[in-house]
Amino acid sequence: MGRFEIYKAEGIDTAMSFLELLDVVNERLTKEGKDPIAFDHDCREGICGMCGAVVNGQAHGPLRATTLCQLHMRHFKDHETLVIEPWRSQGFPIIKDLVVDRTSFDRIISAGGFISAKTGSAPEANTIPVPKKNSELAMDAAACIGCGACVAACPNASAMLFVAAKLSHLNLLPQGQPEGEIRVLKMVDQMDQEGFGNCSNEYECEAACPKSISVANIARLNREYAKAARHFSSSPSSGG
Ligand code: FES
Repeated sequence: MGRFEIYKAEGIDTAMSFLELLDVVNERLTKEGKDPIAFDHDCREGICGMCGAVVNGQAHGPLRATTLCQLHMRHFKDHETLVIEPWRSQGFPIIKDLVVDRTSFDRIISAGGFISAKTGSAPEANTIPVPKKNSELAMDAAACIGCGACVAACPNASAMLFVAAKLSHLNLLPQGQPEGEIRVLKMVDQMDQEGFGNCSNEYECEAACPKSISVANIARLNREYAKAARHFSSSPSSGG
């Protein structure tokens, strides 16, 4: 059973990031011989998707299109009380403090988030023509860093935005199309097995996403799932 702890953060500069605030608190806790607050991080540049916590009820805090590591203390008031919680979802079991197990996302990617086409060295740019609109939509979807804020923000703890982004960035391009149908069936099947909820069009995922991934990707996922399900009446594994 979890519980909240109260920590006083002193000597915090407005230019510090949220993770630096946790560093300062942890330094003091360590000096006092106490357990530091466990939290995930790596790049601290908004790139890797490792950081994340719910701050005052909002995934990655109050600033739009911002990861926790890029959220700075100048966006908070002096003496403000911050309520910091881990991502909460059946699909993300809590390991310790703010650290959750997101290997469910890895298993969803393993189920279909890859291509079998050999990419080799960089081909001549015009060898495979891709409509500009599709290449831009694919690139927008590929911006997903897999942080899990979409799940944390959704009242159903749905992972649809994550799955839809990963699906879109492959299925919109010619290299992703050979496995396009089996990919959507397998990734959605794995998502369901991991215990994530369904989408009920709350749009909270898009609002919390640090990369502003559009819910239009979820609509594409639903369309592609319906189309693929018509072609594969038996189990997805019978198709490839
Ligand atoms: S630590 Fe890499 S995105 Fe925040």
